[in-house]
Amino acid sequence: MPIHKIPVIAIDGPSASGKGTIAQLVAKKLGFHYLDSGALYRLVALKTMQSHANIHDTNLLASIARDLHVVFNQGEVYLDNQTVTDDIRAEQCGILASQLAAYPQVREALTERQRAFCQPPGLVTDGRDMGSVIFPDATLKIFLTASAETRAHRRYKQLIEKGISANIADLLQDIQKRDERDSHRSAAPLQQGADAKLLDTTSLTISQVQDTVLSWYNEICAKNSGLNAK
Ligand code: CDP
Repeated sequence: MPIHKIPVIAIDGPSASGKGTIAQLVAKKLGFHYLDSGALYRLVALKTMQSHANIHDTNLLASIARDLHVVFNQGEVYLDNQTVTDDIRAEQCGILASQLAAYPQVREALTERQRAFCQPPGLVTDGRDMGSVIFPDATLKIFLTASAETRAHRRYKQLIEKGISANIADLLQDIQKRDERDSHRSAAPLQQGADAKLLDTTSLTISQVQDTVLSWYNEICAKNSGLNAK
């Protein structure tokens, strides 16, 4: 299948809006591949911390990003053959990821790695610039969001379930800071593209959000097959 024909569902949105949960459910339902692009930025952050690299040396950070030895396998993430699935979820890692993600050199170094996930029968991906930069021809682009308070509660629940201690007030502050940094950076800022559908999940359940995404996708497929039949 030519790469431009492979269906892509791009879900972008702010921190803790539920993008990862929804993207994984939709990918499973459709039998598509899944790319958690934020995990790549978190891995660059983890490797930067492990190697005590200078977080202002953009050339060094870009080479760390380019040379990452990463394997994603059945929900587990391996860096240099070590499991780091939980390590990359630590708030500290998310904060550094967001700082490093502001460097165009780091983003550039991860671009082709992300595009390589676009394989038949299709891809569901989540991040900040999936629809705007990495997969501009995506079949369906969604901007998934929720109020900052709702997102802080969701993140709290997620961390506690993983046995990681957390505090809602700190999480809310971190989410607000991250929103500010992700939306105002000059390289690929987080924003709803004109061609992305807005999905505010503040008062929706996970299954309602999943159903909405699937029904939008099915509508597009039906429309495209009608056009092809003409
Ligand atoms: O879990 P959360 O939504 O907070 O973050 P994430 O999706 O794991 O991404 C961690 C950080 O990487 C974000 O705060 C962004 O700054 C950055 N990121 C990005 O710039 N572009 C992406 N496509 C994905 C993540």
